Amino acid sequence: MGTVAVHGLCKSFGKVQALDGVTLDVPDGSFFVVLGPSGAGKTTTLRAIAGLEKLDAGSVHLDGRDATGDAPAARDLAMVFQSYALYPRRTAYENIASPLRARRCSSSEIAAAVEQMSSLLHIERLLQRRPAQMSGGEMQRVALARALVRRPRAFLMDEPLTNLDLKLRVEMRTELTRIHRSLGATFVYVTNDQVEAMSMADRVAVLKEGKVQQVGTPTEVYERPANQWVAGFVGSPRISLLACRAEGDRLVGEGWTLPRPRWTTAEDGRPLLLGLRAEDLSVEQRGDASLPGELYGLEPLGDRTVVDVRVGTEILKVKARPTVTGTPGERLHVTVDLDRAHLFDAGTGLALSEAGR
Ligand SMILES: Nc1ncnc2c1ncn2[C@@H]1O[C@H](COP(=O)(O)OP(=O)(O)OP(=O)(O)O)[C@@H](O)[C@H]1O
Ligand SMILES: [Mg+2]
Repeated sequence: MGTVAVHGLCKSFGKVQALDGVTLDVPDGSFFVVLGPSGAGKTTTLRAIAGLEKLDAGSVHLDGRDATGDAPAARDLAMVFQSYALYPRRTAYENIASPLRARRCSSSEIAAAVEQMSSLLHIERLLQRRPAQMSGGEMQRVALARALVRRPRAFLMDEPLTNLDLKLRVEMRTELTRIHRSLGATFVYVTNDQVEAMSMADRVAVLKEGKVQQVGTPTEVYERPANQWVAGFVGSPRISLLACRAEGDRLVGEGWTLPRPRWTTAEDGRPLLLGLRAEDLSVEQRGDASLPGELYGLEPLGDRTVVDVRVGTEILKVKARPTVTGTPGERLHVTVDLDRAHLFDAGTGLALSEAGR
C-alpha cells in the first residue's frame, strides 16, 4: 500500500504564506504530479509529507493512518530533492547502495538492486565515479537511482529532471513513466513544467500561491480548466483570452461577434472571458464562427507556425501549418472551433458551467 493524503496544510514563513489549506489525495500506485510556478509551495508540500516541515495546521495521512506527528524516518518515504545531495566522497555505486546498507541488506542483495536500477537509468558506466567526476544530469540520475533502489511506501520527487539537457529530459520522461509502471509504486512528483505533468501524470494537482486550483487527470486539467489561471498556466502556446459578453444568441466582444456556444448558460450582459487555444483556431479556412483581425507576426517552430493575430486590442495565438505565410498588417479572419472554446467569469476567473457540453 502507498496512499498519501494531506488535509488543510497551512504553513507560513514570516509574512509569506507558503501553504494555504492544501488538501490532496494520492491514490496507491499513482503517478501524482503537483504542478505550479516557482514559489507556489510545491517543495513545502513535499517537505510536509516527508515530515521535514513543522506545520501551522493540517494533517498528513499515510496508508490511511494519521502520520502528522511521526518523525521523517518513521514515514518510510524516499525523497529526491531539487538539489541531489549525493555523498561527495563516495562512488555512484556506494551512493546508490547507501540506503540498502543502512538497512543492513546483504552484499549480494545490494549488488543486484544497484545493477537493476543503474540499468534502468542507464548509468552503469558511472558506477565507479565520484560526484565530482559526473555532469549535473548524471548526478541527478544517480540521485534518482539512490531513491528508487529502496521500496518505500511512496517516492517524493522534487523536480528531479531540471538539470538534464532537453534531449535527456524527454528521454527520462518516458523512462520514469516506465519505471513507475514496473515498480507499481506511488510517486508524488513536483514540477513547474506543464509538459512533464501532462506527459507523465495519472493525476495532476495545480498549485498557485499555496492553494490548490484544480485536481484531475492531465486531460481534464487541459480540456476543462477550473479557472482562467489554470487555463493560462497549462498549454503552450498560452491560451488566448478575449473579453466579451453574451447577448441573446451571440457572444459580443470589441469589434467582433460569434455565435453563442450551445453549451453555455451564461446570462446576458455578464462580463466574460472567451478562452481559445491555439489548436482550436485556424487562419486557413473561413467559417461562420470567425473573428476579424490583422496579422501581427509569425513564429515558425519547425513542425508548425504560431500565427499572432491582433483582434481588437488582444493578440490571439493560432497554430498553423509550417508553410503558412503573410505580411504583418494584412487583414485576415480567425475561425474558432466554438465547441472547444472556454468561457470564464471575468470577475472571479472561474470557468462557467459546461453542463450542456
Ligand atoms: N525556509 C524558508 N524561509 C522563508 N521562506 C520560505 C522558506 N521556504 C519556502 N519559503 C517561501 O515559501 C514559498 C513557497 O516555497 P516553495 O519552496 O514551496 O516553492 P516551490 O513551489 O517549490 O518553488 P520552486 O519551483 O521555485 O522550487 C515561497 O514564497 C518561498 O519563498
Ligand atoms: Mg521547489
